Amino acid sequence: MGRHLVPPRAKRGRLLLSEAELRAWGEKLGAASAPPLIIALSGELGTGKTTLVQAICRGYGVAEDVTSPTYALVHQYSAPKSPVYHIDLYRLDSAEQLTNLGWDDIIASDALILVEWPDRAGDRLPSNHVPIDLEYAPGDEAHRILLAG
Ligand SMILES: Nc1ncnc2c1ncn2[C@@H]1O[C@H](COP(=O)(O)OP(=O)(O)OP(=O)(O)O)[C@@H](O)[C@H]1O
Ligand SMILES: [Mg+2]
Repeated sequence: MGRHLVPPRAKRGRLLLSEAELRAWGEKLGAASAPPLIIALSGELGTGKTTLVQAICRGYGVAEDVTSPTYALVHQYSAPKSPVYHIDLYRLDSAEQLTNLGWDDIIASDALILVEWPDRAGDRLPSNHVPIDLEYAPGDEAHRILLAG
């Protein structure tokens, strides 16, 4: 498509961030983001994917509280620039469930789409997403390693 999907803030490579720093980074990414944009957040349980989603949403202009869509799989919010979809595929059981949650329409929409556990979508995750990986920092529970772009 030739569009530049990666906002400037995402081109930061490998960062070691406290929770406050991670939230600040996410807010700036959200503020710099424009639809349509799919951000895929990978990382083990508890590495901060939802924390980062909350910060991105805040920066993007979502006024509501953003909560983990663990059971619903998808939460939708409104923001000045576009709708926002927060999808958590951790509990996805089947390709059929992905279809039933409206995946195909969501990824084709003019929205900001934030996906936790994106690997669960397999080849139905569009290749033009922005990948962000979060990792634990060995021996340091207060920081995370963030790999972007
Ligand atoms: N530097 C940091 N960045 C983000 N979260 C941190 C950091 N340090 C500690 N934390 C804590 O780690 C936890 C991250 O939880 P969060 O729900 O965001 O993770 P998650 O990756 O979404 O997990 P899950 O896979 O269960 O959805 C929070 O309790 C947060 O306070
Ligand atoms: Mg989460």
